[in-house]
Amino acid sequence: MSKKGEIIAGFLAPHPPHLVYGENPPQNEPKSEGGWEQLRWAYERARKSLDELKPDVLLVHSPHWMTQLGHHFLGVKKLSGKSVDPIFPNLFRYNFALDVDVELAEACCEEAKKEGLVSKMMRNPNFRVDYGTITTLHMIRPQWDIPVVGISANNSPYYLTTEEGLGEMDKLGKATRRAIERTGRRAVLLASNTLCHYHFHEEPAVPEDMSREHPENYKGYKWDMKMIDLMRRGKTKEMFSVLPQFIDEAFAEVKSGAFTWMFAAMGYPELPGELHGYGTVIGTGNAVVEWNLVKAKLAQAA
Ligand SMILES: [Fe+2]
Repeated sequence: MSKKGEIIAGFLAPHPPHLVYGENPPQNEPKSEGGWEQLRWAYERARKSLDELKPDVLLVHSPHWMTQLGHHFLGVKKLSGKSVDPIFPNLFRYNFALDVDVELAEACCEEAKKEGLVSKMMRNPNFRVDYGTITTLHMIRPQWDIPVVGISANNSPYYLTTEEGLGEMDKLGKATRRAIERTGRRAVLLASNTLCHYHFHEEPAVPEDMSREHPENYKGYKWDMKMIDLMRRGKTKEMFSVLPQFIDEAFAEVKSGAFTWMFAAMGYPELPGELHGYGTVIGTGNAVVEWNLVKAKLAQAA
């Protein structure tokens, strides 16, 4: 491809496996009576939008592929197997099969090295892809017909300071953008993150009993609303200035870096995000939000 590639959209696309469980796709072994409809319908709206964008590739950064040493990239053309959530094996045992855009993944890995980040290609053909990556990809594109680039969470914000760790994610985002541009891809980024992460410690007898589902933590809920308000108004600079405080006070999963990676790659646009929906899962706060760079005329239509 000779044309210059570009990022056409970014989505905040959280990964509670409960959403897949509630939907009952043929790939997931456990079966439910439904549940978490508000979030599942939010994803339905996002799916429609993604369909119109016609991307060449979906890039996803997942907190549940943890690599303590460096940033890793899926580097096997076809991967398949069973992905199981270690906390909720009763809800998520998913038979996956996906195509990886290895050329773009290698470009991301090279560009990350140029930023001074320890980075590595994952070449194990029997690799079991984590449930965060699988859930986000299933919820946004259940057809599995678009190649993907999977990026691990180095989790540096958990052993460096939050600011230092998120600084690494900023570099990873910039490297990702350069890789997309030079490989000529029309790319959509998926930040696989929950917001407030305080959760209940007991599961109801019927996990999908929604009479038991609500925010676990009032302060965390208020933080979620404050952050979503900033997203909806396009107050990106303000959002990132309060992000470390949000992470500390709401135990937010954005600490693992996907959200910062995505915004760094997009160049931190002061662009209103479209909220497709918000809901809680075992008390944690989850929002599906879209930043469509084509609609905003920051990227070209297909
Ligand atoms: Fe998670």
